[in-house]
Amino acid sequence: MADNILEVRDLKTHFHTNDGVVKAVDGVDLHVEKGEILAIVGESGCGKSVTSQSIMRLIGAKSSEKVSGEILYHGEDLLSKTEKEMRQIRGKDMSMVFQDPMTSLNPAYKVGTQIAEMPIIHEKKDKKSSWKRAIDMLTKVGIPSPEKRASQYPHQFSGGMRQRGVVAMSLACDPDLIIADEPTTALDVTIQAQVLDLLRKLRDDTGTAIMMITHDLGVVAELCDRVAVMYAGKIVEEGTVADIFDNPQHPYTQGLIHSLPKPGSRERLKPIEGQPPNLHNLPEGCRFQDRCPFVMDVCREKQPELVPADKQDHQAACWLMGEEENDGDGRTGESEEPEKTF
Ligand SMILES: Nc1ncnc2c1ncn2[C@@H]1O[C@H](COP(=O)(O)OP(=O)(O)OP(=O)(O)O)[C@@H](O)[C@H]1O
Ligand SMILES: [Mg+2]
Repeated sequence: MADNILEVRDLKTHFHTNDGVVKAVDGVDLHVEKGEILAIVGESGCGKSVTSQSIMRLIGAKSSEKVSGEILYHGEDLLSKTEKEMRQIRGKDMSMVFQDPMTSLNPAYKVGTQIAEMPIIHEKKDKKSSWKRAIDMLTKVGIPSPEKRASQYPHQFSGGMRQRGVVAMSLACDPDLIIADEPTTALDVTIQAQVLDLLRKLRDDTGTAIMMITHDLGVVAELCDRVAVMYAGKIVEEGTVADIFDNPQHPYTQGLIHSLPKPGSRERLKPIEGQPPNLHNLPEGCRFQDRCPFVMDVCREKQPELVPADKQDHQAACWLMGEEENDGDGRTGESEEPEKTF
């Protein structure tokens, strides 16, 4: 589609370890449209970070890391780019914000110098104009006294300010896609709200698309347009924020939503029982089967594919979606009526 900045098709990232193959990402399809904020949500260990690092080609260079599928950025497959070409794309066209700002900031250099480096490297700008750009970026992300701050080192910044500094760095070359991996998880709630406001404002002002990786559904509700729910290396549901919160279709998504506190309610929260499967040793069929309250025989035999749920762009990978929709390569053909409905 013309308006897709990023289209990921059948992405698989498998790690070959001494204990066997870890299928951290195992057939992920997703897309990010121009100017939208897409959330990738799911429990710890479901493959969110590995997905984003595979897209940025930060994983895949070692012989133990096997990445396959297609990662189309403006229609061009990043998996066929050389490392040199990727270095041009990273930071300039698409940039990444990590959970820990110190992953991106070097303690030995002034914050301004590190931001200014981006236009120097990617746009061959001179030092003076790049320094000015660094100050502009620090202003844009709401750092007070930006001239003074630009000359300081990361340890002189508070945690929230460092993360703003990283956002400033990611913006320095006006990327059209930012991949943010838990950018607010390490921050206290007030600073978290400020960083979320900042990201929303950036998207509104500049049209930069954001892929927001988080396990926090509050962040999703507040910031995002669409959501992809990930479970054990696969996307199990995808839809708008309203689809996911008001009409979740996959039992895993329903579990996530039910485990959220409701304002004013004293009801006990219902956590999802059990643990995700071992990625070394995945079960046949649906990966959620052992935790699913609706499990049927077919779920233990065949993997469900993503199919439209109540409308075309709200999709879920669950045998409860009905036989006629779920005719992916997994279906046996015999009819299995769900015991329970939503
Ligand atoms: N280099 C590696 N070698 C082997 N396994 C790995 C490697 N990197 C990640 N994994 C495994 O891949 C799985 C997915 O990890 P990932 O970091 O993507 O999870 P996540 O969804 O980002 O979780 P969190 O919310 O905790 O950040 C995990 O089981 C992890 O142990
Ligand atoms: Mg992660």
